[in-house]
Amino acid sequence: MNLVDRVVLVTGGARRIGRAIVERLADSGCRVAVHYQTSRDEAQALVEQLRAAGREADALPADLADPAACGGLVEAVLRRFGRLDVLVNNASAFAPMTLEDFSVAVWDRMLRVNATAPCVLAHAARNALRAAGGRIVNLHDAATLRPWPDHVAYMVSKGALDTLTRVLARALAPEVNVVGIAVGVAAWPEHYDESLRERLVARIPLRRAGSPADIAAAVHYVLRDGDYLTGTIIPVDGGRHVV
Ligand SMILES: NC(=O)c1ccc[n+]([C@@H]2O[C@H](COP(=O)([O-])OP(=O)(O)OC[C@H]3O[C@@H](n4cnc5c(N)ncnc54)[C@H](OP(=O)(O)O)[C@@H]3O)[C@@H](O)[C@H]2O)c1
Repeated sequence: MNLVDRVVLVTGGARRIGRAIVERLADSGCRVAVHYQTSRDEAQALVEQLRAAGREADALPADLADPAACGGLVEAVLRRFGRLDVLVNNASAFAPMTLEDFSVAVWDRMLRVNATAPCVLAHAARNALRAAGGRIVNLHDAATLRPWPDHVAYMVSKGALDTLTRVLARALAPEVNVVGIAVGVAAWPEHYDESLRERLVARIPLRRAGSPADIAAAVHYVLRDGDYLTGTIIPVDGGRHVV
């Protein structure tokens, strides 16, 4: 896909991996809708930075736990940019929960943000994406292959997203390609201490954590060169999935 002037919506685009995706796609000539929930200042600063570099960008808020707000976000993008070519479902909720601590509230929030929202956004965007011959890129977690028992709800929500990528690939074919990027470690959760980080890196064949830029490069590859990819979930995890 030629990326110049394509309109891209990146959810959770103000910080960390989402921000790297926004910057990479804007550098490639995309017009970018930077979605945020709480990171308004970071989103506005990023938009100013992109505009100063001659790019077109805007920041749009929504709480993706609310399905009505997901539909409203797509409408806002279409009003602001006039079209939508690419939806990047990057925003994610992340919280520990063991079976002992089971909480319906945590379960519902994980499922709503990580599985329901990507599906509602795809539903709301489907006609625009079909008209554009567009793409959806979903950000997965490579750990769903070996799910962590202390993050029950998060793992189930990301497992649902694994299936959603495959379902959407069929539901939106042949006009829209739907591809997943399964992230290993690319931006540490802020509460992970040094010894935990070292233990996790020791299990990665490439012996280093990835970076937001590594994930942004994979998203860029899928969009620019992945015309024959759909329903595929690509691990970008330093080889962790083969250990
Ligand atoms: N970090 C990693 O190494 C890693 C590992 C495996 C998978 N992944 C996946 O890669 C993606 C990006 O990872 P990340 O660590 O950069 O993500 P993150 O920092 O945990 O979350 C990204 C953004 O999601 C948004 N978000 C959370 N709840 C929301 C809600 N209810 N409504 C709207 N937005 C909401 C937040 O936006 P605001 O800040 O604006 O509130 C947040 O900045 C995620 O899908 C994650 O599951 C990452």
